[in-house]
Amino acid sequence: MATDVEWRQGAQHVRRQAAACAEMGSPLYAGLLTRVADDLLASGPAADVLAGHERDDGPSALALRLMGGVHRLVLERAAPELATFYPSVGGTADPERAWPAFRNVLSSHRDQLAAGLGQPPQTNEVGRAAALLGGLLHVVAGRPPPIRLYEMGASAGLNLRPDHLRVTFPAGSVGPPDAPVVLADGWSGAIPPSAGALQIVDRAGCDVWPVDPTTTDGRLLLTSYVWADQLPRLERLRGALELAARVPAAVHKQTAADFLRELRLAPGTTTVLWHSVMWQYLPDEEKRAVRARLEELGREATAEAGFAHLRMEPETRADLDGHAFYVVLRSWPGGEERVLGTAAPHGLPTHWR
Ligand SMILES: C[S@@+](CC[C@H](N)C(=O)[O-])C[C@H]1O[C@@H](n2cnc3c(N)ncnc32)[C@H](O)[C@@H]1O
Repeated sequence: MATDVEWRQGAQHVRRQAAACAEMGSPLYAGLLTRVADDLLASGPAADVLAGHERDDGPSALALRLMGGVHRLVLERAAPELATFYPSVGGTADPERAWPAFRNVLSSHRDQLAAGLGQPPQTNEVGRAAALLGGLLHVVAGRPPPIRLYEMGASAGLNLRPDHLRVTFPAGSVGPPDAPVVLADGWSGAIPPSAGALQIVDRAGCDVWPVDPTTTDGRLLLTSYVWADQLPRLERLRGALELAARVPAAVHKQTAADFLRELRLAPGTTTVLWHSVMWQYLPDEEKRAVRARLEELGREATAEAGFAHLRMEPETRADLDGHAFYVVLRSWPGGEERVLGTAAPHGLPTHWR
C-alpha cells in the first residue's frame, strides 16, 4: 500500500508532466493530467491504475505512459465517449468536459491500463529529422557522398529516411517537392549548405525495444504516444509511416553498445552514426562502451572511409554557457567537433548557428 507521502510525490510528478505538456503545446493533456494528479490525491480511479508506480519519476515518464494507454483505447474505438474530445480522431479538445469520460475510462479499463504502464513510452519524433537532415548536409559539404546512415535508439526507425522528406524555411526548402513528410518552418538561422540530392546507400538502426512501423500494432503504438491534440505531429507521423512502408530500414533489437561493436567503416563512403534523445536512457557502463567505440571508429577513419557522429541530445555545455538540445557533429579523420545548432525538444524548429 502506498503511503500518503508517496501519493503526494506521485501527484507532483504528474503535475510536472502536466506543466511540460502545457509548455510544449498540449492544453488537452495539460488539463487532463492536472485532474489526474487531483484524482490521485483523492484516491480516485487514477490511484487504482497507477498503484505500485508511486515512486516512479523522471525519465520513466509515468504520466506519458498512462496518456499513451488511454490514447490507444481511443484510437481502437474502445472509448467512444472520450473520443469526442480527442482531435486525433476528429474530436474537439476540451479538458474540462473530457475529464468525466477520461475518469470513466480509467475505471472501466483499469487492468489493461495498469498492465501497459510496464512498457516505456515509445515516441519516435519525426520532427527531429530536421536536425538530422541539416547535419547530414554539413557532412556531405565536407566530403563527397555516398552516405551509410545508422541510428542508435532508433525506436521505429522513422528518422532513417531523411533523404525522402522536405524541410521548409523562410527562404525556401530542401528535399523532394512531393515528399509525404513536410517539416514546415523547420529551420532558422544559417541554413545548412545545399548539396543536391543526398545519396544514402545503406540505412539501419537499433533499439532495445524496436517498433515495426509496417504493422498495425506498431502504427497504433506510435500514434498512441503522440499527444492527441497535436495535429501537425500526427500529420508528420502519418507521412513517416507511409514512407516506412516504401523505403526499408531495419531496426535491430540490440543495445547501442552491441550495435556499435558490429559497426564497420566502408571505403568509398562516409559512415554516419546518429542519435536523438536516447543518451539519457543508457546505463553509465554502456555510455562508456559507446564513447570508447566511437573513438575507435574515429581512429580507423581515413579520407577514403570517413566517419561522422551526429547527435541531437539535451546537453549542458560549459563552452556555450547553456543547456539545450544541441545538434553536434564530430567528423573523422580529424575528430573535429562542431556545435551546428540547437533544436526544440521535438526537433522543430532547428536553429542553425
Ligand atoms: C525518447 S525515445 C527516442 C527515439 C528516437 N531516437 C527519436 O528521437 O524519435 C528513446 C529510445 O531509446 C531507446 N533505448 C533506451 N535504451 C537503449 C539502449 N541501451 N540501447 C538502444 N536503445 C535504447 C528506447 O527504447 C527508445 O526507443
